[in-house]
Amino acid sequence: MILESKSILVNNNQTSYLESGDVDKLPLIFVHGFPFNKLMWENQLLELKSDYRCIAYDVRGHGNSEAGEVDFSVALFAEDLIAFMDALQIEKAVIIGLSMGGYIAMNAIEKHSNRFAGLVLCDTQCAADTAEGKEKRKKTIGFIERNGLEIYTEESLKNLFASASFETKQQAVSFIHNTILNTPANTICRTLLALADRRETCDLLPQINFPVLILVGAEDKITSPEAARKMKRLIRGSELIIPEAGHLSNLENPAQFNFHLKDFVKRKIKPLR
Ligand code: MLT
Repeated sequence: MILESKSILVNNNQTSYLESGDVDKLPLIFVHGFPFNKLMWENQLLELKSDYRCIAYDVRGHGNSEAGEVDFSVALFAEDLIAFMDALQIEKAVIIGLSMGGYIAMNAIEKHSNRFAGLVLCDTQCAADTAEGKEKRKKTIGFIERNGLEIYTEESLKNLFASASFETKQQAVSFIHNTILNTPANTICRTLLALADRRETCDLLPQINFPVLILVGAEDKITSPEAARKMKRLIRGSELIIPEAGHLSNLENPAQFNFHLKDFVKRKIKPLR
C-alpha cells in the first residue's frame, strides 16, 4: 500500500479510508465490490489524484472498517456512504461503485440523489437476486461455515476474472485471492445475506438527473454486459463502455478503465464551487 490509511467515525463504526489529491477539488468516492476492500482502487487513486480529491473507503466489516452489531443490508451500506460523506463534510461527489459498490450507490439514489454530482456504475446491475440466486448465497454461507474460506476463494476467482487475466494479470489475481482470504468469514456470511435481500433498483434509474457512465468487462460472468445495457436503457443520457476484462474491470484493464473514467468526469461533471 502506497497511500496512508485514515479512519473516521461513521454511524458508530470506525471507517477506514484512503485519500489522494487536493481537498478543494471535486470529490470522487470509490466503493468496492464484494468481498474486497478499498485497496482495489489504489491504482485509480494514484492516477486521478492530480485533478480530483479521490477517496476509497472500506464498507463496514470489510478491510479495516468496524462491522458493528446490527444486521448488514445494502440499504444500511447506502446510509453509511451518505454518513461517511457527512463526516468528511462532502456535500456532493461523483460516486464510482463496482458491483456491490454499484448496488450501494443505486440504493442511495432513492433518498439521497441530491448528494450525487455523477455516478459511475462498474460491473454491476440494478436487478435483485433471483430465487435461485438467493438460495445459492444461503448454501454458500453453509459451505463457508463448514469448510472455511479456501475453497470458496478458489471458486470465486474462476468467476471474477476473464480467462486471459489468469495469465496476463497474475498480480491482480493473487491480490484478490489474498483479499478474499483475509476478509473475516463472518463479514462474508453477513454480506451474502445482505446481497440476497437487496432491493431491485431498476425502478429508480429513470429519475436520475446527473451524468452516468456505465463500464462493464466484455467477459463479466457475474454482472453481464446485457445487464449493463439494461441500465443504459433506463438512464437517460448515460454512456456505456465495454473494456476487455472480466468482473474486475479496474484491476484487469486499468488503462482503459482510467482513460474512460477521466474522460467522462472531465467532459460531463462541472467543477464544484
Ligand atoms: C461483487 O463483486 O460485489 C459481487 O460479485 C456482487 C454479487 O455477488 O452480486
